[in-house]
Amino acid sequence: MPGGSTTRDAVLVTGGAGFIGSNFILTWLQSTRSPIVNLDLLTYAGNAANLAALESDPCYTFVRGDICDSERIAALLREHRPRAIVHFAAESHVDRSIVAPDAFIRTNVHGTFVLLEQARLYWSSLSSAGRAAFRFLHVSTDEVYGSLGAGDPAFCETTPYAPNSPYAASKAGSDHLARAYYHTWGLPVLTTNCSNNYGPFQFPEKLIPLMILNALEGKSLPVYGDGKNVRDWLFVEDHCAAIRAVLEDGQPGATYNIGGNSERANIDVVTAICDLVDEMRPCSDDASRRKLITYVEDRPGHDRRYAIDARKIARELGWTPAQPFEAGLRKTVRWYLDNAAWVSSVRTGAYREWIAQNYAERLAL
Ligand code: NAD
Ligand code: DAU
Repeated sequence: MPGGSTTRDAVLVTGGAGFIGSNFILTWLQSTRSPIVNLDLLTYAGNAANLAALESDPCYTFVRGDICDSERIAALLREHRPRAIVHFAAESHVDRSIVAPDAFIRTNVHGTFVLLEQARLYWSSLSSAGRAAFRFLHVSTDEVYGSLGAGDPAFCETTPYAPNSPYAASKAGSDHLARAYYHTWGLPVLTTNCSNNYGPFQFPEKLIPLMILNALEGKSLPVYGDGKNVRDWLFVEDHCAAIRAVLEDGQPGATYNIGGNSERANIDVVTAICDLVDEMRPCSDDASRRKLITYVEDRPGHDRRYAIDARKIARELGWTPAQPFEAGLRKTVRWYLDNAAWVSSVRTGAYREWIAQNYAERLAL
């Protein structure tokens, strides 16, 4: 029990109202009764309703707040005396980082610094047993490694950093800060670098949910460039299981790459979505949604290929992905079709403005 008698053995999660964070909290509380405190600013990407099922769960506490607010973080740490921090909060959309990078530097770089610094001060005040047990798990991305060519080996933990977008650069900056807090002060930091997630509760600005909803509504399906950019897809619950494994058994100071062994070209993902939507909600004239696919102007600096070598986490912690891509995609399409109320609650005026801004000027190729 870090720090003495007031601890409830809680874990402080940041960004828990977003896509991966809410899946993490929901799956955590299905498998353990260890309390969770969720600190989230509720930006456009955060939705407290994702966790509505936990409203009366005594193990769940929601706090609206900003990771850049050091006094707030210090007070939260004093009050809840967590045994760990799992840090998801970030600006996460590459296209938005190209249009308006400022928020990415503020939250991803400065916010992570504030959290690390307050964690260090809190950790220093713990008993030696509390300090030894404490963990700061920094959730990061494979985008920090840059872009691969078709025949290149997958990213491993020692691949040099080469971030290409403002988003990737801001995450790389935060990874370096996390590393420095371990190296300089011994704060027990763990870093995970994961590939593209998909699944329930993903905000429909990202490829998979955007394409599912556009296909359903008969709108065009905007594929950037030639559609041959490759991503490695991981079902979100598999990512959550990997984070739990790293939190419990990871080596402080270490980084772990997490991936799905499921490299797919974007165009193949989009055609698979068309076929699933056709199967689950056939068009009245039996036409294929594939006819909605439109190649549009590319994302500037678009990374060609990501691939993850996840052998370290498999070898050291016994984690491998459980969900094959085709089965996970089917579940995900089903979830979006079955959750129309959630979809309409997140597609606010601000969402529609973003879609107009990102796609209106992207000419069809
Ligand atoms: P998301 O955009 O869905 O959610 C981000 C959450 O952070 C939101 O709830 C938002 O309200 C909150 N937030 C933003 N700024 C904040 C601030 N200043 N203070 C407190 N809360 C704030 O993101 P996601 O897709 O769930 O990603 C979560 C984390 O995982 C991010 O750090 C991201 O870089 C990383 N990651 C994502 C993926 C992916 O495919 N989505 C893959 C690898 C790593
Ligand atoms: O690799 C991990 C990263 O995956 C995370 O760190 C990011 O937070 C997450 O957003 C994701 O980044 P991507 O840029 O890969 O995801 P996105 O869903 O935006 O795009 C996936 C691919 O699809 C990418 O090659 C761009 C392309 N795309 C995307 C959109 C939104 C399209 O072709 N059309 C689109 O409309």
